[in-house]
Amino acid sequence: MFKTRITELFGIKYPIIAGGMHLLSRAELVATVSNAGGMGILASTTFETKEELREEIRKTRSLTNKPFGVNLNLFPMMRQRSIKEDIDLFVDEDVEVVESSGASPEPYMPLLKEAGIKVIHKVPAVRFARKAESVGVDAVAIVGFECAGHPGMDGVTSLILVPLTVDALEIPVVAGGGFCDARSFVAALALGAEGVVIGTRFVATHECVAHPEIKGLLIKARETDTTLIDRSLGLPMRVIKNKPAEKAREMDKRGASLGELMTVISGALGRKAWIEGDIDAGVVSIGMVVGRIHEIVSVKEVIDSIIEEAKDICKRLDLTLVS
Ligand SMILES: Cc1cc2nc3c(=O)[nH]c(=O)nc-3n(C[C@H](O)[C@H](O)[C@H](O)COP(=O)(O)O)c2cc1C
Repeated sequence: MFKTRITELFGIKYPIIAGGMHLLSRAELVATVSNAGGMGILASTTFETKEELREEIRKTRSLTNKPFGVNLNLFPMMRQRSIKEDIDLFVDEDVEVVESSGASPEPYMPLLKEAGIKVIHKVPAVRFARKAESVGVDAVAIVGFECAGHPGMDGVTSLILVPLTVDALEIPVVAGGGFCDARSFVAALALGAEGVVIGTRFVATHECVAHPEIKGLLIKARETDTTLIDRSLGLPMRVIKNKPAEKAREMDKRGASLGELMTVISGALGRKAWIEGDIDAGVVSIGMVVGRIHEIVSVKEVIDSIIEEAKDICKRLDLTLVS
C-alpha cells in the first residue's frame, strides 16, 4: 500500500523521507528511519571534516541495509568544505541518494549522474522546482512556508505549493512543511504528492540526539511559537522563538552585517542549544507543525502510525464520500 513513483525510485517500502537535519540527522536516526520502511537522510554539514562524514556514512551503512541518502546543502554560507569534495566522497562511499538544497544543483548534475546517484532536490518555490526538473533531478521536494529549515522568501504555504508543483512537473514530487501524521500524509497524497519529507516530527523521537530539555520544550510548544530569521541574508530560517531568535530578528530589521548576525546564529551556538540543552544559547530550527506534536515516541511508532492510520482514513473516506 502507498506505492508511488517515490517508493519505486528509491526502492523503499513507504514514501516517507526524513529530511536531512543539521546536527540531528546522524547515523542512528537515519538508519532507524530506513529500517522502519522510510528513507533517512544524513546531514553532511554536521561534520567538520570529510573523514568524520565518511565515518558517519559507514556507520549508517553498518546499521541498515536499506536505502538512505545524504543531504548536500549548496548554500555557500552553510558549507565547511567544497561541494566537489563532498560529491567525491559520496562517489567513493557509494552513496545512492543525494538530497540537495540551498541552490540549484545544475553545476553538479553531470558528476552526480555519472556516478549513478539519485537526486531529490528540495525547493521552496515552483520556479525552482521547474528549474530542478530541467537540469535532470530525479524528484523534487517542495517545502511550504510552515517548514523548518529554509522556507524561502515568498511566504507560500504547503497547501498551495504542493498542487502547483505537481501540476508544473512530470517527475515525482514530495511534499514538505507541516507533515507529521496520517492525516497530513493522506492530505499530501490527495494534493498529488507521491510522498512526504518530514523534519520536525522526527526531532521529537527517542532516536534523535537533541537534548531532552529541548525535546521537552518542543512538545510543549505551540504552532505560534516559531518565527523567521535571516531574511536579510536571502535565506530565511524558521526557528523556535527564543532570545537569540529575538536578537537575530532585531538585527535583521536594522540590516546587520553577516559578521554581526553570526554572533547569535552560528552553528557552534546552535550546537550548544541542540546538544547541550541550553535553549537560549543559539537558534533552533523547527517547523510550525511543532504545535501538533505532543509526545516523544520512537521513529518506528511515527512511521507505523502514519501508515496504519492512513489506511483507516482511506477506508473511511471511501465509505463516506464515494457513494
Ligand atoms: C533541526 C532541523 C535542521 C534542518 N537542517 C536542514 C539542513 O541542514 N538541510 C536541509 O536541506 N534541510 C534542513 N532541515 C529541513 C528538513 O530537512 C525538512 O525539509 C523540513 O523540516 C520539513 O518541514 P517540517 O519540519 O515541517 O516537517 C532541517 C530541519 C530541522 C527541523
